[in-house]
Parts: sequence; C-alpha cells; structure tokens
Amino acid sequence: MCGIIGYTGKKKLAKENIITGLKNLEYRGYDSAGIALSENGEINLYKSSGKISNLENYIKDKNISSSTGIGHTRWATHGEPNQINAHPHKCGNVTIVHNGIIENYIDIRKKLENEKITLQSGTDTEVACAYINYIYEKEENNSDRKLKSIIKACSDFRGSYAFGIIFSDEPEVIYTTRKDSPLIIGVGKNENFIASDISAILDFTKEYILLEAGEFAKISCNSINVYDSNLKPISKNISTATWTASEYKKNGYDHFMLKEINEQPQVISNIFKKYLDNIELCSIEFEKYNKIHIVACGSAMHAGLVGKYLLENYANIPVTVEVASEYRYKNQLLSKDTLVIIISQSGETADTLAALRIAKEKGAKTLAIVNAVGSSIAREADETIYTYAGPEIAVATTKGYTTQVAVLSSICLNIMKNKNIISDDKKIYEELKNIKKILKNIIENSEVYKNVAKKIYKCDNLFYIGRGIDYALCMEGSLKLKEISYMHSEAYAAGELKHGTISLIENGTPVIAIATNKELYEKTVSNIKETKARGAFSILISPYTNNTSDFADISVELPDLSEFVNPISTVCVLQLIAYETAKLRGCDIDKPKNLAKSVTVE
Ligand code: G6P
Repeated sequence: MCGIIGYTGKKKLAKENIITGLKNLEYRGYDSAGIALSENGEINLYKSSGKISNLENYIKDKNISSSTGIGHTRWATHGEPNQINAHPHKCGNVTIVHNGIIENYIDIRKKLENEKITLQSGTDTEVACAYINYIYEKEENNSDRKLKSIIKACSDFRGSYAFGIIFSDEPEVIYTTRKDSPLIIGVGKNENFIASDISAILDFTKEYILLEAGEFAKISCNSINVYDSNLKPISKNISTATWTASEYKKNGYDHFMLKEINEQPQVISNIFKKYLDNIELCSIEFEKYNKIHIVACGSAMHAGLVGKYLLENYANIPVTVEVASEYRYKNQLLSKDTLVIIISQSGETADTLAALRIAKEKGAKTLAIVNAVGSSIAREADETIYTYAGPEIAVATTKGYTTQVAVLSSICLNIMKNKNIISDDKKIYEELKNIKKILKNIIENSEVYKNVAKKIYKCDNLFYIGRGIDYALCMEGSLKLKEISYMHSEAYAAGELKHGTISLIENGTPVIAIATNKELYEKTVSNIKETKARGAFSILISPYTNNTSDFADISVELPDLSEFVNPISTVCVLQLIAYETAKLRGCDIDKPKNLAKSVTVE
C-alpha cells in the first residue's frame, strides 16, 4: 500500500511529473497525498488529506519550478489519515517518503526521545526519517556519508520499506532503498525516476531497473548508481515495460472497473487460445503431485476456491485453499509431493509473498499465477504463469480474478489430458473457442443488471447463496458488492443458511441465488423457497430459468456452459450487478473508501 514516486531531471518538471505519477499510483491508497520539492536549494513540503486531486488543487497555482522531488499517496497504517501524518516527512537534513511499515518504530522513537529529539506525527515514517537524520549527523563527513547513514539506519529497521530520500544539502539527488516493498528506478533522458511500480512513470519512460531488497541507489538527473550494503557497486540490467501508458487511461468508459469488465472477453480468450494452441502452461508436471495448496488473499483466494473445486472434481487431486495471512503462521505439513500455488494479481501482496517464501523454505515446489510481470512473487516462485490481463486500476478486481480462474481451468484441463481423464471434451473446447463472444454477449446485457440493481440498491443487507462451485462464485459476487457499494452482504453455502443465518432474512431482504449445476439445481431451489417463505426478495441467476416465477422474483438467464467456463461468465454477471448497484448508490466505484489495491503490509 502507499505509492511513492521521485523525479530528478533537467526539465524542472518535478511538480508536474510527480503529480501525474501519483495519479497513476492512487490505486495503492488515497487517504492523503504529499510532495516535497527542491526549490532554490530548499526542500519544501506540500501535503493534503484525501485524494491526489486535493493536493493538485492545493499546489496548482503555486509558481514552482523544481528539478527534483518525491511524492507519496498514502493508505494509512500508523496514525490517522490527516495532513500532519501525510508524507513526505522532514527531520533536519532528511526528507522522506515511505511505503511499508517499520515494525520496531516505538523502540526507535524512544531512543530518539532519549536524545531529546521530538517528533510531530504519529507515523512510523517520521521515526525512520528522524533516525536517518540522527545517524547522518553523527556520521563522519565524507563522500559516502549519506549512503552510509541510510545503510546503518536500515540495519536497525524491522519491517518493510521502500524509501525515497532527499538530503537538504544535496537537493538535486534522490536516494532510495527497499526491503519487502516494491521499488523500481525509471531510466529517462536527462531525467530519472523512482516509483512503487511502472504505472507511475509510463507517461515518461518505459525503461526501468528493478531494485532488489538490500540494494541502495543514488540517483541524479544523469546518473544511477546502485550499491550493496558494503557500498560495493552493483551493475543492474535495464528492462523495458510491456504495458503502455494508454492502458492506464479510462478510454471513454465512466470507470476503470467498467473498462476492465469489458476487457475480459479479450484477455480470457487470449488465455484459452494459448491453451488450445497447446502451448505449455509451464514446465511443472502437475500429475507428479498428490496434494496442492493454493494460497492467496481476497479475490485471488476466491479464484483459488474455484480452482479447488475443478481440480478435485475433475482432476482428482486433493486441494486446500487458504488465505495467506493464516497460512503463513501455521505449521504447514509440506512434502515433496505438495505443489504450492500462489495466486496474486499484483504479485506484491505482503502476506502472499511471505507464504510463498515459507513454502520455498520448506522445500515445496511453488507455482505463481500472477498478472504483474516482474513483480516480487513472479520473480521468487519456482515457476510463474502470467495471466496477461494488462494493468488493472480499479481497486475491485474483475479481469484480474477471471484470468486467474481461466489459468486454473487450463491447468485442470491439462492435468485431465495428461491423466487421460475423459470428460465432455467437444463441448468444452467449443466453449473455449467461443469464449470471447460468450462473454461479450453477457456483458452487453446491461439492462438486466441495471434492473436487478434498481431492486436491491436501497437495502442494507443481502445474501448470496449457492452450492458447489456456485458457492465459490457467491463469495466473489458478495465481496464485489461489499467493496464498492458499502452494502452488507454475505455469501452462504445454500444448504447452510438454515443453520442460523436464515434468522436475518426479513420482508424484502434480497437473496441472490446462483444455480448453474443441473444436479444441484433442485436443492438450491428448495433453499431459495425457504428464504422466500420468510419474506426474501429472490433473484435467481441460472441457465435454468423456465418456470421459476413461483420462487424467483427476478431471473437472470445464463448460457448453459461447462464448469470450466461457467465461473467466468457467471462472475461477469455478478461484477455488473455490483457495479450498477454502486452507481445507483453514488459510490466512488474505482476508489472505494478504506481500501487499496496493492496490500504490501501484513
Ligand atoms: C486487495 C485488493 C483485492 C485483491 C487482494 C489480493 O485486498 O483490494 O482486490 O484481491 O488485495 O491482491 P493480489 O494483488 O495479491 O491479487
């Protein structure tokens, strides 16, 4: 969480370029924003609470021409999201922006207070800033003094960090380092950048250097020098970004979420096309493993649940799915026969990354399913399958999730083929071939989803129910709605509702029932009837919508597809219901309150 950017260049466009970069990083958090600019040899700070637009309005009329600066968009971890706690922080000679958490900041704060150093904010970042300054003041005055003081300070920090640092006595230079929070160095002509990710700088350059944990860099407008903690120079490769700046624009859509929903037919069909073309997904021999652990957070974990259902039901492999924040703190009984699949859109989620490291330490084979190319999880896993969904900007994931499901479906089909497990191949392959059209038709059916939204948007509570794979889809549908509309909703296994939760059903409580599996259909219908009998307003989403008027107040018809494609098409419907509902409620769809897209803290 939090996004950082730094710019140093001959063009003196630090203010403008940092604001542009921050806007592209806003998905990482939007509790407050700030910028530090070098102006006539001084470092001046400008901060505001709330979104980047507040900061932009605050500084737009100020006559600033600056060659160097650092900026930050914050998702608050320590200290309220107000102006005082906004980054950058400045202590003595040092100004800093930070992404991560300094876990031992209270101890360091006490140490500083014992030295009569007082701090203004409640943040761990200001402590880090003051500590670097404290060490800097004690450090012998030579040409390496600044790097040495950063290295020494960092050796005392516990936790995660990516720092952008400017020293007031060298105001045209940016120092940076990272540990467990991402950071890249953007390489331009007579200008260079630092950023949390490539999206921040694509308007200016596609060339970048990946800074590894424990590396320290000194960056001016025409030089980039990277060192290890012994100040030994490190030679770094320059990579070229494959994503373009225009992929980060709304391109005519009202919201990024809607744009990304509409991109699904193409990106999903790309994945299945690869699969149909018999391109190897990766070199892992899946059949060798007799157990799979899937580990992820949020929607990626929900994608994992769909994967579990498919792999167990069709490929006969036992699968456990666990949220990474739980997985990492348990005794994992891993053996050589266990494959650990890590799923992450961003490839930077802190808990997921930690879970991957644990699995590796314990000797398990690890496979990552990741969207962001070159991200930490993609780099550290034994094997990576990219989802190639392109940049996802809306905080609520859509194409990120469905591409993960498409990869899991492909893995399952692959295993079935290799194990000679017979299934309805012809139907499945026909669907995979036509997936683009199938999804387009579903997405274009917007009047139906608007109608559902009109019926539910004023309610405070609602339920999603389903059985089997539909239960996993309910979880994702329910999460989508909660995230962007702020309505309370729960996903329930349809048969479980009567074990308590049915007491929450009142007159008019919406119950969205997903029933895509023919064999389980009648069971789910009985569960819908149980809720109807207690006053529920029922919405059936199913391929089987004939003669449903006695138990469904609204029926949304789905195409009748195999379970390899069905989760994707059904979730498109759920995404659009959530989108239309949030729109009617006037919510900030792309940037829901309190959330951030990339969660790089525990
Ligand atoms: C955040 C996002 C979710 C996402 C989760 C995991 O909570 O808001 O949409 O599913 O992180 O992110 P990842 O990048 O690891 O898939």
